[in-house]
Amino acid sequence: MRQKIVAGNWKMNKTLDEAKALTSEVLQLVNAEVKGKAIVVLGVPFPYLVSLKDQLGSSSIKLSAQNSSQHDWGAYTGEVSALMLKSVGIPYVILGHSERRQYFGEDGKLLATKVDKALAAQLTPIFCCGEPLEIREAGTHEALVTKQVEEALFHLSAEALQKTVIAYEPVWAIGTGKTASSQQAQDMHAVIRKHIASKYGNDVASTISILYGGSVKADNAKELFSCPDVDGGLVGGASLKAREFVDIVKAIG
Ligand code: 13P
Repeated sequence: MRQKIVAGNWKMNKTLDEAKALTSEVLQLVNAEVKGKAIVVLGVPFPYLVSLKDQLGSSSIKLSAQNSSQHDWGAYTGEVSALMLKSVGIPYVILGHSERRQYFGEDGKLLATKVDKALAAQLTPIFCCGEPLEIREAGTHEALVTKQVEEALFHLSAEALQKTVIAYEPVWAIGTGKTASSQQAQDMHAVIRKHIASKYGNDVASTISILYGGSVKADNAKELFSCPDVDGGLVGGASLKAREFVDIVKAIG
């Protein structure tokens, strides 16, 4: 279902005490100030998921893992499966982030399996796509991003696809302070939605939430979120500061 979502991606940051303090601050600010219908998600490191889930209690803030395995169980030292995440009550998982693609060699075929495992465990995958700078400069970004979406998601049934969230994160905008313009974001989101419509039809495409990520800040969020095909954000650096993150949540209205 198409929903407004603002998700933080903490990446590999914070000690447990710092994570608890940040969660408590976000929770307080959200309770006091957020009246809109956006879903707020915190993508936190694995070791903190259970403790932060207890801390959040019955709050509307949801937790996400930042990765999950292509396997269910077994001799895969160091891995965490979607079924494990499900068993501790985590509803979301970020999959295919560009940092996972770049540093851990994740490709479309692997991600298709990870998406399947996440959906089978009844998690909502936040599937990331996005082009590096050289591809943007070569003008082939639309072809690359539609291929990334196709490789990882187009084997899904319409019903399964509708349980998936997509995040467009141009690699050149991640952690660089250089955000895509709202026009660039809107253009790519429309391309992704149209590509989905070409296989699944307009009715299905119009129900998919497509988030933008890449240097989203409180001062650019409103403009980005006002684009018709931008359904929210996946926020890295700015999600590590409660005030800034909640201001981004509020920008969605
Ligand atoms: P920044 O917001 O720090 O650019 O990171 C974006 C990101 O990678 C979110 O997944």
